[in-house]
Amino acid sequence: METKRKEPRKSLRIKVISMGNAEVGKSCIIKRYCEKRFVPKYLATIGIDYGVTKVQVRDREIKVNIFDMAGHPFFYEVRNEFYKDTQGVILVYDVGQKDSFDALDSWLAEMKQELGPHGNMENIVFVVCANKIDCTKLRSVDESEGRLWAESRGFLYFETSAQSGEGINEMFQTFYSAIVDLCDNGGKRPTASMSISFTKEQADTIRRIRSSKDSWDMLGVKPGATRDEVNKAYRKLAVLLHPDKCMAPGSEDAFKAVVNARTALLKNIK
Ligand code: GTP
Ligand code: MG
Repeated sequence: METKRKEPRKSLRIKVISMGNAEVGKSCIIKRYCEKRFVPKYLATIGIDYGVTKVQVRDREIKVNIFDMAGHPFFYEVRNEFYKDTQGVILVYDVGQKDSFDALDSWLAEMKQELGPHGNMENIVFVVCANKIDCTKLRSVDESEGRLWAESRGFLYFETSAQSGEGINEMFQTFYSAIVDLCDNGGKRPTASMSISFTKEQADTIRRIRSSKDSWDMLGVKPGATRDEVNKAYRKLAVLLHPDKCMAPGSEDAFKAVVNARTALLKNIK
């Protein structure tokens, strides 16, 4: 009878939004997951597309309201009112379009501005989709660069292709289950599952190394520095970035680059 039956867990309703430049594949990622198909022809989203879908996360049925935003700047006025009351954000860039990756910061800034001074971005689950990985020949943002950007902010990161479907189900499952964890945790991002395994100093150093213009710049010494100065700078970076100690994406390449820079500089210093 009624009294004996276990109370079913409260069904959950969540709101997620998509963000990212025009044409990066936001609508296609959602369509791939919800309708299992891909449309090669580009149909720009006008303002916003809204859809409801039910998903299963562990033993729960979740009702998801998806707001698929237009990436074009023209639609700013339409999008801006949809940022509030969001539990999850799908942030998308095209791995063949460096500017769509560089734009991620301004997307976060736009959201932050619309949420206002009392808005809290800490308690929203963000997943970054490095999309169009099927177009390998045109890739201009590699995995470690994207992963570093995402993970240093506590965001999830997935490599996806809406065309082939690669990474899409995995991305949504992890994303939704992180949102359910968040809701169960009283609306706070659970720290354990999202903990970062590297420091901000390590992440910033790797980024700085990637964008350095020459070996001097990479080691952070003035052109014409002495052997001692070069060795000192090298040792500091080696301790910070050694692959045995640094778990940040891209640390191995950055470490190798630093070793090579030091070798090249020492060759030319008497
Ligand atoms: P806006 O709505 O204008 O903001 O763009 P959007 O981000 O929603 O892009 P959309 O999903 O409409 O996709 C843009 C174009 O990229 C379309 O021509 C898609 O077919 C194509 N596209 C999307 N995802 C992929 C992918 O993973 N691989 C390839 N090769 N093409 C893709
Ligand atoms: Mg779209």
